[in-house]
Amino acid sequence: MSRVKAAVFASGTGSNFQAMLDESDLACEIVLLICDRPEAAVIEKARQHQIPVYQFDPKQYATKEAYERELVTVLKKARVQWIFLAGYMRIVGSYLLHAYQGKIVNIHPSLLPDFPGKDAITQAFAAKVDKTGVTIHFIDEGIDTGPIIAQQTVDMYPDDTIRSLTKRIQQVEHKLYPKIIKQLVQNEGEL
Ligand code: GRF
Repeated sequence: MSRVKAAVFASGTGSNFQAMLDESDLACEIVLLICDRPEAAVIEKARQHQIPVYQFDPKQYATKEAYERELVTVLKKARVQWIFLAGYMRIVGSYLLHAYQGKIVNIHPSLLPDFPGKDAITQAFAAKVDKTGVTIHFIDEGIDTGPIIAQQTVDMYPDDTIRSLTKRIQQVEHKLYPKIIKQLVQNEGEL
């Protein structure tokens, strides 16, 4: 039986992408990395694992719909069924959203709806909250507003620095995201 195929969209370091690859029982196969930044470290991680990379430059297209049309063509050709965003720094537009309705998932380093958008860890740190965390949610047209799938709390301590807090949040991300991906893919198989 062929496995469910997934694509990861990422623009940065790729530590979550790596965590997915390290999970031996992800219930799906990552067949494609989509990246909009040629210098992103995540690209090298994909190459090391022989995962095809589709790199694109949004500035080369007249509109968001134009590049999303091309992305959807690439995704369909690779028979991708799920899209997992992991540090993809762009808002998904309606063309891609409609093509993959209910199949685009994001990870965000805060307890949404608190601290949406960029620099969520820094925002939480500056707000001196006791707790922050990690949210996994479906994507909708807004910025980090889609239906929440899972959340995990991370305590913030008085002697925390942004660095120490980031490290603890990442440790949670790297366990939670693969676990939720597996559940989503398997639950769908049982529908
Ligand atoms: C993660 O903190 C994720 O929650 C956010 O972007 C960051 C990506 O980090 N959406 P990495 O590239 O996976 O290391």
